[in-house]
Amino acid sequence: KTHIWLDCDPGHDDAFAMILAAEHPNLELIGISTVHGNSSMDNVTTNALSLLTAIGKTDVPVHAGSCKPFMRPAVHAPDIHGSSGIDGTTLLPEPKVTMRSGNAILAMYEAIMKTPFQTCAIVATGTLTNVALLFAAFPDVVGHIRCVSIMGGAFGGRDDARGNITKWAEFNIYCDPESAQSIFSNPELSGRITLVPLDLTHTVLATSDILTTLVTTSHPTTKLRKMLHDLLTFFSKTYADVFGITAGPPLHDPLAVATVIPGDEIEWDMEEVQVEVVCHGEQTGQTIKTPRDQAHEQVRGEGLGKAGVNPVTWIKVPRSVA
Ligand code: BDR
Ligand code: CA
Repeated sequence: KTHIWLDCDPGHDDAFAMILAAEHPNLELIGISTVHGNSSMDNVTTNALSLLTAIGKTDVPVHAGSCKPFMRPAVHAPDIHGSSGIDGTTLLPEPKVTMRSGNAILAMYEAIMKTPFQTCAIVATGTLTNVALLFAAFPDVVGHIRCVSIMGGAFGGRDDARGNITKWAEFNIYCDPESAQSIFSNPELSGRITLVPLDLTHTVLATSDILTTLVTTSHPTTKLRKMLHDLLTFFSKTYADVFGITAGPPLHDPLAVATVIPGDEIEWDMEEVQVEVVCHGEQTGQTIKTPRDQAHEQVRGEGLGKAGVNPVTWIKVPRSVA
């Protein structure tokens, strides 16, 4: 089994990421931290606790993390997720548990270090403040984890998959570009970061057929199924209203969980690139990739002239966008 620590900002699609992480037989969800993003810290934390209550997984510890990036104010997305961060249903239960006390970054560190060496994946489906702080405060965790899988970024490989918060930037990266850049340029993580950008998530839509399947046919319609149907219906509407995407909303966040599922259930076609994040000006939050063949020349050229070795951080991205 792969152990997972999920850092998230639920969020309609984060809800599906949580369910996949909690229910997949080859994954063991060891804890959840919440981060500013789709809504306020209070809202996203309550949403995480309600969702765990809805699926009967109240034993998974939930810690409230950073309520803002350390270099800029927080940005939320009420136009996409509603003012609660997860509008659209009356079926979310009151949380049966409360969040755990204590510092979230320390809790992440302690829980992850208890897992066997290189078996734990950190999956980040929100802004990257908590994960960047974890690596900065506890550098030894970097060698201990197996990998980090991040929903974030947009490379513009498909016309409808450029930015979603600005024309250049994807929301999770835009909200805290400095934290993203600190992770993407950490050479200790080279080869162990996977980025799931909009270019990929916009090919995985929750179509009306999928919504219908949730509540009909061979399955008995449980309250949970009805709630998930409500959530996707709301998400479909905001995607149609805000982006004009009418085929169904992209289900971004569960894909970041899917990349760490052990086994060959899904065939991933990834390639390694370097990723830079724009941290200033109107293009803030844009992710720019350099493919390995081009980057190699730069690194070799500079490296030979200087110290001989340039630490490079290779990041896996879906090949179709590289
Ligand atoms: C990302 O932004 C959030 O609104 C979603 O939950 C997802 O993590 C997509 O850009
Ligand atoms: Ca999210």
